[in-house]
Amino acid sequence: MDTQPSIKPLLTAEEIARRVEELGAEIGEDYAGKNPLLVGVLKGAWMFLADLTREVSIPHQADFIQVSSYGSGTESSGEVRFLTDLSTSIAGRHVILIEDIVDTGLTLSNMVNRLKERNPASMAVCALLDKPERRETPIKIDYLGFTVPNKFLVGYGIDWDERFRHLPYIGYLEF
Ligand code: IMP
Ligand code: MG
Repeated sequence: MDTQPSIKPLLTAEEIARRVEELGAEIGEDYAGKNPLLVGVLKGAWMFLADLTREVSIPHQADFIQVSSYGSGTESSGEVRFLTDLSTSIAGRHVILIEDIVDTGLTLSNMVNRLKERNPASMAVCALLDKPERRETPIKIDYLGFTVPNKFLVGYGIDWDERFRHLPYIGYLEF
């Protein structure tokens, strides 16, 4: 039978909403007149991007990429494969990459390097969560929601083997 982990709450839906509102306001101020493109990394960042876009009150667009990530394990391979690519050109655009969690940083730094090859006007990173303890490669996070402990987190779009994405709050697994 499956082991059923329990979920210990870490960030409430209200705490997340308040922080997303602040991040959206910051982005709106910094990118006024720049018509930025928010690029969400599927699947983990979809809920974050859906909320964030409604808090960015300047004109902007959204697009998505999907890269290979965790299967059923909990360790990053650092290997980045584009499973789904952008539907628009980013040449000359102000791009903000929207990510759920920065862990080792390998996925993000790979994605940033790959996207920079397409000559965007600028490239920034907005991450909801940062686990600095796990970092293996330095990465600049321009907009950060929360620094979190080195636990396996789920909820608000973030999954454990496709489970628990739907939770409106963020918690960590306890087996
Ligand atoms: P990195 O390459 O180690 O930074 O991996 C980052 C990616 O791994 C994130 O975008 C997540 O998709 C996934 N990830 C990292 N930590 C967690 C976690 O605690 N729960 C679920 N997914 C995670
Ligand atoms: Mg991710």
